[in-house]
Amino acid sequence: MARIPDAFLDDLLARTDIVALIGERIELKRAGREFHARCPFHDERTPSFTVSPTKQFYHCFGCAAHGTALKFLMEYERLEFLDAVEDLAQRAGLSVPRETHARHSQGFEELYAVLAAAGSFFASALGGEAKALAYINGRGIDASTQRAFGLGYAPDAWDALKNELGGDERRLRLLDRAGLVSRSDNGRVYDKFRDRLMFPIEDRRGRVIAFGGRVIAAGVEPKYLNSPETPLFHKGRELFGLHRARQAQVRLERLIVVEGYMDVVALAQSGITQAVATLGTAVTADQVELMFRSAQDVYFCFDGDRAGRAAAWRAVENTLPRMRDGRQAHFLFLPEGQDPDSIVRAEGATLFESRLRDATPLSQVFFDELARDVNTDSIEGRARLAERIKPMLEKVPDGAFRDLMHARANELTGMRPASAATRGAGAPPAAARAVARSGHAPTSLVRKAVAMLVQQPSLALAIEPPYRFAVLRQPGVELLAELIVHIRSHPDLHTGQLLDHWQGRDDHPILVKIASLELAATPETWGVEFLEALQKLDRQTLDQQIDDLLAEQSKRPLTATEGKTLWQALQERSRVDLASHQSG
Ligand code: UTP
Ligand code: MN
Repeated sequence: MARIPDAFLDDLLARTDIVALIGERIELKRAGREFHARCPFHDERTPSFTVSPTKQFYHCFGCAAHGTALKFLMEYERLEFLDAVEDLAQRAGLSVPRETHARHSQGFEELYAVLAAAGSFFASALGGEAKALAYINGRGIDASTQRAFGLGYAPDAWDALKNELGGDERRLRLLDRAGLVSRSDNGRVYDKFRDRLMFPIEDRRGRVIAFGGRVIAAGVEPKYLNSPETPLFHKGRELFGLHRARQAQVRLERLIVVEGYMDVVALAQSGITQAVATLGTAVTADQVELMFRSAQDVYFCFDGDRAGRAAAWRAVENTLPRMRDGRQAHFLFLPEGQDPDSIVRAEGATLFESRLRDATPLSQVFFDELARDVNTDSIEGRARLAERIKPMLEKVPDGAFRDLMHARANELTGMRPASAATRGAGAPPAAARAVARSGHAPTSLVRKAVAMLVQQPSLALAIEPPYRFAVLRQPGVELLAELIVHIRSHPDLHTGQLLDHWQGRDDHPILVKIASLELAATPETWGVEFLEALQKLDRQTLDQQIDDLLAEQSKRPLTATEGKTLWQALQERSRVDLASHQSG
């Protein structure tokens, strides 16, 4: 690895504001002298990621990730050390010391340079080629959009680029490594792109790493020719237009994922600058992660035909594992035979925006597609559906989205959540039976909470995740958690509808019974009582967690993580006790 003088790195970090740098990428909330966020490096529901402006340091109490602005950039943007240094230097208005620069790049600098030179060559060739200009104008792309995307033209010749940039054998090898020329069987080198409209493909940092070339003459195959994989270009890891989209807005709220280069260009010209395209392949998991690291909301646009549906399903499969909390995916199915380019041209940006607003959420595409050919009125059909759903939801990261997907799956199949089976906390009906046990006013906290909730579902709306109590080993806890999640996803439910949703499940009769119990307390005070009950359950959960860890500790030394968890739980317990002492 390159040697960058320590003094330069010190200077660079001194001029970088870590809060600004991280704040451009994830949402930070001020908490005293520090900033908090949900950790971008592991899945979590409660923020344990902190950024300290005074220490110019980030640290996650959950996964122990930590470091400086430089480390953050490397980890988050998946940049090499020197690329991250260069990014920071650019922000700070410094230039990286020259000699280290050349040494680190192992020839990559030259590759970037030859690709940039090719881009300029194609761009200037476009100006001199009437038929290419006619084509591009015919498609309605104006001059400033052409410049913004660096569009070009590869001349109709075997050696135009070769003559321009391939002066000697070493330079020819470079063109070859850059994917710009091909070699015939007898070793003759010739231009790969000929008589094509050229779309430069930029990496996240705006460097040209490849090209896509569209035919101009009719009847030539393939319609689009893309650069091959090269040391700089891995098509499954890049997105056409991402750098430009990021340039257009400091913090992107959304990304619109389309299939074609032309779609990105046409949308940008209409004022929708957040579009990116995959590079002639299905959406990969890497690309989805890259999208969500740029924006919280991702809109996938697909054809409404069968091929489009199939492509959308592949996107669904690759999106589920990336659905950390806060992220949302939407699907826009276009009328057959149309693409975003033709639509925005015909309808304008405003109507396209309204199509985006009406896009189908990921959850709906997921359940609709899985249930498409099953009869959910029969037990057999619901069993099949449950079998399809289960392995897919296992890939979804822990969090509210996962909980809600499980709740919906249970609703559709009448099954218990997978966690109930694996945790083995007694069969569900037994748990529910425990809740309803005597038929009189319930005695345990859990029973009381469930009873209040069934009778007044809106109580759940005051309970925000995380549901710490959900791991408490007490009968009925899982039912309580499930009810809360369910009601929160259907906020207007009354008792009757809630019971309907439970229809067909083993614990339905018991819920009905609970619904008709007469509870001692007056309903007006339930809001407070319910909250208190849940706070007490949370407190009991802390006790349980602490007891478990202490029991472990008496058998063997705790791991560092367990030790930290224990310490945090103890701290949390004294904090909770102090707070309840003060308020009570
Ligand atoms: P489409 O065939 O849908 O074309 O390919 P398009 O984007 O609408 O292009 P125009 O409007 O006819 O110019 C969508 C994308 O699939 C890849 C390209 O990335 C293209 O933008 N593709 C398509 C290829 O890589 N090779 C092909 O032969 C065709
Ligand atoms: Mn098109």
